[in-house]
Amino acid sequence: MAETQRVDYSTKIPNNVGLADDQRVLKALEQWHPGYLDWWMTMGPEGFQTFDVYLRTAVSIEPKGWAKFDYVKMPQYRWGILLAPRQEERCVNFGAHKGEKAWQEVPGEYRAMLRRLIVIQGDTEPASVEQQRFLGKTAPSLYDMRNLFQVNVEEGRHLWAMVYLLQKYFGKDGREEAEGLLERRSGDPDKPRMLGAFNEETPDWLSFFMFTFFTDRDGKMQLESLAQSGFDPLSRTCRFMLTEEAHHMFVGETGIARAIERTCQAMREAGIEDANDIAAVRRLGVIDLPTMQKKANLHFSLSLDLFGSEVSTNAASYYNCGVKGRFQETRIEDDHVLTSATYAVSKLVNGGISMVAEPALTAINMRLRDDYVADCNKGVERWNKVIEKNGIDFRLRLPHVAFHRAIGEFAVIHASPTGEVLSQEQWEPRKDAWLPSKADGEFIASLMLPCWERGKFASWIAAPKIGIDNKPGDFEYVRIDRA
Ligand SMILES: [Fe+2]
Ligand SMILES: [Fe+2]
Repeated sequence: MAETQRVDYSTKIPNNVGLADDQRVLKALEQWHPGYLDWWMTMGPEGFQTFDVYLRTAVSIEPKGWAKFDYVKMPQYRWGILLAPRQEERCVNFGAHKGEKAWQEVPGEYRAMLRRLIVIQGDTEPASVEQQRFLGKTAPSLYDMRNLFQVNVEEGRHLWAMVYLLQKYFGKDGREEAEGLLERRSGDPDKPRMLGAFNEETPDWLSFFMFTFFTDRDGKMQLESLAQSGFDPLSRTCRFMLTEEAHHMFVGETGIARAIERTCQAMREAGIEDANDIAAVRRLGVIDLPTMQKKANLHFSLSLDLFGSEVSTNAASYYNCGVKGRFQETRIEDDHVLTSATYAVSKLVNGGISMVAEPALTAINMRLRDDYVADCNKGVERWNKVIEKNGIDFRLRLPHVAFHRAIGEFAVIHASPTGEVLSQEQWEPRKDAWLPSKADGEFIASLMLPCWERGKFASWIAAPKIGIDNKPGDFEYVRIDRA
């Protein structure tokens, strides 16, 4: 049996895809492996490669109990190829091929399209590791440091997942693309990563948590829609990646919630009621809530850009061809062909923002973005519960989708967080009230002092409610002293 629930650790590359019987692909991956390790050593977590980190490794793809926890030095992490189990009866569930059997090989006419989608997804994985590589040094606790490294090694594994598809199904150009994924660099003007948000800096831990909340959630939405693909190996790969992605968003959501909790506690202890008294709150060594709002504004808007143009003929053909579906496609009640349906898209009309009915096929990006915004809102409401519980009169809100955009309908205008269209002259003096300013960045940076004592946390963040793998509060998640 080539494909099993268990993972084969007998080959150099752990897998559940029968690599031992697939010499061509095994060889290609073995050739790629040293370049990957090279990349990891030069672009991965800086300064922590020799430390023992309490990491989970996937040992099975069963929904329960797939992870094994143990101390691992990151360069020795068992990156591997894991696909969700094949469902014999699976079909193409949407588009012009709806009802056909799902494809086990790449259809010739969709080869370029599929390759492009896989490369774009693949490119984001190492990019985020590069963006986060200096954060270990300012980790607010061993718990947080471990979570950062867990996210990093899993993004590394997601790169492996995409490279496997390229090597197995796309021949020579797949091998070239696999090399290219190790050559581009986040933020490098000469060979940047492919998407904007993945070339931004992640300078501090608040940015890291916002990134894992907002940008990894874009990743989730993309993976969800690729998990619907008629190309079955892509679908199965993405389905397993989603189980790992959930932890990344957990890290982001709880990270921000703990920062909020700590700020509220400090305010209560000091008797500060006005959340907008920024100077007073900052004197307590915590991050004021208005600054968190600005950070959320920034990361939300950067992440919205990842969805592309609201109206897109590319997205329409991805859908029509059956290669990329909608979020939870099979649970949507419609014809899944969309040739006559419409979808409401927010657009610029006569200088204002209105909803316009567009053909649903070309509005696929908009729909995915709407699902994303709804998902983000649930998390923001959970943050607001923390503020409320502490009796502080302040609410976090997602800005309007037209705010601070670089791609799509609203790239050509300025808009306030409430969606009011502004002239350049109106925007300039107010933008520092809505986006993190240089001074905000410096203040946050001043709080980023490492806190590596077991069970201790930096001034600006509360302890988590429970430990990873149910470990006690003073658990040594990273063995700093035994390096
Ligand atoms: Fe990922
Ligand atoms: Fe992720």
